[in-house]
Amino acid sequence: MGAVILGTGSCLPGRVLTNHDLEKIVDTSDEWILSRTGISTRRISGKDEETFKLASTAARRAMEAADVTADEIDLIIVATMSSHMLMPSCACFVQNELGAKNAFAYDLNAACSGFLFALDSGDKYLRVERDKKILVIGTETLSSRINWQDRNTCILFGDGAGAVIMEYQDDPRGVVGSNLFSDGSLWNLLYMHTAPSLNPELEQSDHPGTHILMEGREVFKYAVKAMEGAIHDLLDRQKIEISSIDLMIPHQANIRILKKLVSRIGIDQEKVFINVQKYGNTSAASIPIALDEANREGRLTRDNLLLICSFGGGFTWGASLLRW
Ligand code: ACO
Repeated sequence: MGAVILGTGSCLPGRVLTNHDLEKIVDTSDEWILSRTGISTRRISGKDEETFKLASTAARRAMEAADVTADEIDLIIVATMSSHMLMPSCACFVQNELGAKNAFAYDLNAACSGFLFALDSGDKYLRVERDKKILVIGTETLSSRINWQDRNTCILFGDGAGAVIMEYQDDPRGVVGSNLFSDGSLWNLLYMHTAPSLNPELEQSDHPGTHILMEGREVFKYAVKAMEGAIHDLLDRQKIEISSIDLMIPHQANIRILKKLVSRIGIDQEKVFINVQKYGNTSAASIPIALDEANREGRLTRDNLLLICSFGGGFTWGASLLRW
């Protein structure tokens, strides 16, 4: 009894950036990147592949899969931190692209946990407004928010979008429960400034530019522990054993975080969907892209138990359980 996913879609930009391509940009190697992150390639947006355009294509694919028209959508929630404008929201651009004239639309920023948080907001909305249909999207063009001279970060991220259509159904399927967290005290381990202030009083003398900065080792430590805790609590609360999970879709940050997490929670490796090698870390888009791939590959069948989990800047993190 909750918000059921009716259809999924995703969209990746056409350009593939390989580790060998990165060797020509910064002092790195295919071997270093692969062994430290598991990433081989990532997609990078070109002309007409802005955050909202990727999102709109992913949305159209989800709508087609769900057999839902633009007119039927009541709400659009877009999780992103890399829209081409701060105002209007990316969600308003998507609404316009789709011609979803009956929908209200807003963005949500929870960094890499954005889709997880948006899914929870959508689920809660649908529990009250039970006859509505909503579109939940994770979309990023982090290539526009990376310092391409910083080898610590530029090798990690990629662009893409994923989307789901949801509605409330009065059966045991849908979102079973979520367990979400934030800790703003740790903001300075992973962050990105907006444009410099035009008010001299609020000017930051050490403004480093509008790109991602990260203490990789610290993030790694917190990420594994935090996701492990969120998953354990959620499963305990729902009285569900890890062995009952049919598929786990974690945020695709890097393979070492995922392997450590998988071994700590004791889930069978074969039940974990991983595509980080192809797309790198697409932040809020990583879970819905993976979900769409898993769905289209037939990895999910009716009534399967799906576990998703994420960790990102803020810090923000959490886990959700869905009955497919
Ligand atoms: N190529 C070659 N050498 C590099 C590169 C690179 N691309 N980047 C860093 N190095 C060097 C460093 O300069 C350092 O050299 P030094 O010892 O001479 O100073 C050395 O490699 C080790 O650097 P570390 O940062 O300690 O390397 P580490 O083994 O921790 O790996 C990494 C770095 C991959 C970023 C790791 O810390 C990590 O995966 N952290 C998680 C961060 C993450 O995934 N963030 C994404 C956002 S949050 C999220 O989505 C969960």
